[in-house]
Amino acid sequence: PNEPPVVFHWFPFVGSTITYGMDPPRFFKENRKKYGDCFTFILLGKKTTVYVGPKGNDFILNGKIRDVCAEEIYHPLTTPVFGKDVVYDCPNSKLMEQKKFMKVALTTEAFRSYVPIISDEVTSYFKRCPDFKGKSGVVNICPKMAQITIFTASHALQGKEIRDKFDETLADLYHDLDMGFTPINFMLHWAPLPWNKRRDHAQRTVAKIYMDTIKARRARGETGAQDIMYHLMNSTYKNGVKVPDHEVAHMMIALLMAGQHSSSSTSSWIMLRLASRPDIMEELYQEQIKNLGPDLPPLTYEDLAKLPLNQAIVKETLRLHAPIHSIMRAVKQPMPVPGTKYVIPPNHVLLAAPGVSATDEQYFPQPMLWEPHRWEKDSPLAPSIVRNAPDNGEEEEEKIDYGYGLVSKGTASPYLPFGAGRHRCIGEQFANVQLQTIVAMTVRLFRFRNVDGQEGVVGTDYASLFSRPLEPANIVWERRDA
Ligand code: HEM
Repeated sequence: PNEPPVVFHWFPFVGSTITYGMDPPRFFKENRKKYGDCFTFILLGKKTTVYVGPKGNDFILNGKIRDVCAEEIYHPLTTPVFGKDVVYDCPNSKLMEQKKFMKVALTTEAFRSYVPIISDEVTSYFKRCPDFKGKSGVVNICPKMAQITIFTASHALQGKEIRDKFDETLADLYHDLDMGFTPINFMLHWAPLPWNKRRDHAQRTVAKIYMDTIKARRARGETGAQDIMYHLMNSTYKNGVKVPDHEVAHMMIALLMAGQHSSSSTSSWIMLRLASRPDIMEELYQEQIKNLGPDLPPLTYEDLAKLPLNQAIVKETLRLHAPIHSIMRAVKQPMPVPGTKYVIPPNHVLLAAPGVSATDEQYFPQPMLWEPHRWEKDSPLAPSIVRNAPDNGEEEEEKIDYGYGLVSKGTASPYLPFGAGRHRCIGEQFANVQLQTIVAMTVRLFRFRNVDGQEGVVGTDYASLFSRPLEPANIVWERRDA
């Protein structure tokens, strides 16, 4: 009684697993039309309650710790990949402390040093990659962006020593770790299947590489590079316990994995969108000429703020292509839904899908149109959150301290690609710096366009945990200096 309506299905356990899995956004939109913003469907036997729209986002993402639990859902998948005692293999209060430790290393000062590192990685990648030899060609952009993401992230976040290992053994090991992140592992994470054996071997090997590095740094009495590893090595929990080496190692893995899929999918979508809109790519180039100078000097962190269209590209792409389409929580006690007669019972899973409000006409005029200029205040396509923003710049949002710094409460916004509340992303600023730098440097070197016959962009692959472009996602590139 008083439960939300259940999506019609023929078979008990399977329920809506197939229709949801093939195209989650379409599934949400179609059923929202039939059942309203809050409805339940069966996902592999689990009663899963979706609640879309800003109210739903708030209800789920700002849920109280006694009501909702993330680790119960994510732990089977993430623990074998990251390792023990971090993120979802510990109480939430410990994760909050760990997020605070990781966040300390993501300062403006750090970002200032990352921009040159990322720019150099991008330029040298395009110089040495055999698929970009000559004046023009056709390339499947996704694997290229995946590599650029791992080289830039590992170099910036984990230092040159670790970055160089990606040219040797680390790339393959991370690939094996990645295979643990497949949706069937929600059920089969424990099984002695070949890919799980490789995952476990990779986890031990990568963790050992980090632990050896930690030991070596400690033995050298190193005080030099104050990077993330340094900060984690020198952090202490509130109860007085120093962060043990294996936890440092496992957090290093978690950080790289968290950013890899989301950033690499986003940068691929950006390149595909630019190929479908060569006029915007040209505008980006002209923006740099105009605001940074015709000689295009080496890019700095400060320069990024002078490139509003370059920033809007990332924002608009995340609006249409947020890599995380479903955010899930286990319900721990009956949760009345404010303003409705519904009560969500404890055996349910709650599912938030902020992508639904981000593509809702109510908030974004012509919602399915990719138009970076909509993020300008006087654009006819500007969303209400931009049009009605106070003139002093920043959107006014309520902020809460969850223990790892102030984060947006999230209620005010239909646009939440980085989530909200206690589990909110700590990597948002890093991702922005990384993506904006990658775009700016790519625009300096290339013109892109669609291959003949390609209208718009390719479809979305939802088969993995993070959505991404369907491959091959081919584009035509041409060197600017050709
Ligand atoms: C959490 C998105 C990049 C580290 C999240 C969440 C979202 C998200 C939606 C919330 C998940 C939930 O509530 O269950 C993104 C997107 C990215 C990105 C769209 C890039 C475009 C990164 C990067 C890092 C990172 C680069 C690391 C440097 C984390 C961490 C969490 C998180 C540690 C916290 C998990 C938790 O508290 O449960 N991210 N992320 N992310 N992200 Fe990101």
